[in-house]
Amino acid sequence: MEGSTAQAAGKTVLRVAAISGSLRRASANTGLIRAAAEICRESIPGLEIDHIDISSLPLLNTDLEAGGVFPAAVEAFRARVRGADCFLFASPEYNYSISGPLKNALDWGSRPPNFWGDRAAAILSASGGSGGSRSQYHIRQVGVFLDLHFVNKPEAFIKAHQPPKKFDDDGNLVDPETKEQVRKVLLALQALALRLQLGKPAADSEV
Ligand code: FNR
Repeated sequence: MEGSTAQAAGKTVLRVAAISGSLRRASANTGLIRAAAEICRESIPGLEIDHIDISSLPLLNTDLEAGGVFPAAVEAFRARVRGADCFLFASPEYNYSISGPLKNALDWGSRPPNFWGDRAAAILSASGGSGGSRSQYHIRQVGVFLDLHFVNKPEAFIKAHQPPKKFDDDGNLVDPETKEQVRKVLLALQALALRLQLGKPAADSEV
């Protein structure tokens, strides 16, 4: 069922803001986001991926916040973060930690008012040796202050450079087992996001 069909059937459609921590043209992590979008279209009704390209964000500098107004690229980014129901991060590990571009994006989205708060998030990483596990735990640590609620299981640490071949030369995910891993993470994200939404008062209800 397509997302719009899900909506017509009265099913909640969740918009997932998806961010790749790699700016490379042939990034495997950006490839994971393309694969996630395809998986949602084909087999996960009610989940829609909105890929947010963070390559035009300036490096964080609070001098750029003149009178509470952010640079145009930052304003546009923050608006998409604010409008999302939940988040998907797909990021390489750089030197045992979070990629610089992803940390920069997390920091811009956190400037007051913090636009990440009280929503579900899932992490994928395609990386070297450990599959990016160390970077994932650093993302979780940052998420504590941002007030994100992470999917705990399943975890997906994708060893991008080990056989079987997982990505083609353009960064497209070609390995069926890894696709199934991504699908399971997306289903867990959907379940957690729906649980969080159920616990919230309706937008128009008075407390
Ligand atoms: C890396 N890489 C890497 N891999 C890893 O598993 N642990 C690490 O600490 C690092 N450190 C590191 C630092 C820097 C500066 C670079 C450029 C690379 C390898 C990297 O995570 C891997 O090649 C990913 O597959 C790249 O992701 P994209 O760009 O294909 O999405």
